Amino acid sequence: MKTLRSTLSILALLSTLPSVAARADSPGAGGDRDATMTSGAETYRHVCQACHMANGKGGVGAAVIPALAGNPKLASPIYPATVVLNGYGAMPWFNGVLTPQQIADVVNYVRTHFGNSYKDTITVDTVKAMAGPPPHPMH
Ligand code: HEC
Repeated sequence: MKTLRSTLSILALLSTLPSVAARADSPGAGGDRDATMTSGAETYRHVCQACHMANGKGGVGAAVIPALAGNPKLASPIYPATVVLNGYGAMPWFNGVLTPQQIADVVNYVRTHFGNSYKDTITVDTVKAMAGPPPHPMH
């Protein structure tokens, strides 16, 4: 029962994602993404938490979602930034959906929370360089 319930809840969360992405990318005066996701914590809460959970421990449901808590693969910011930009397995990509600033912020956030305490940070310029040209015209 527990497995079925968590599978269903992950499916429900997955089905909400396109609307999260659409909202994050919506055009308009200043866009509302800046109003809703101005810090790594907010971006995590709005976008990543649905899958990786509030405590960063991930879970097992429709897909195996790895923990970000205590994950040694976060030792370099380049790895999580690559995953967030390009997607990975069942994880969607966020290049062009989140701004480079939001991606830098959320990478810096996950590397300094959930028991992670890496001191170095990734800059917006590095994320921009990794992202390359936008996949569609930016608003
Ligand atoms: C739709 C669910 C979903 C969302 C939303 C999501 N992820 Fe993931 N994430 C996954 C899955 C599934 C994997 C594992 C992919 C695989 O191994 O094939 C993963 C893998 C990762 C990894 C690699 C971990 C490792 O051990 O290799 C990082 C880092 C990561 N996610 C960070 C994030 C961040 C930061 C966000 C928010 C911007 C985010 N994810 C949003 C589902 C998600």
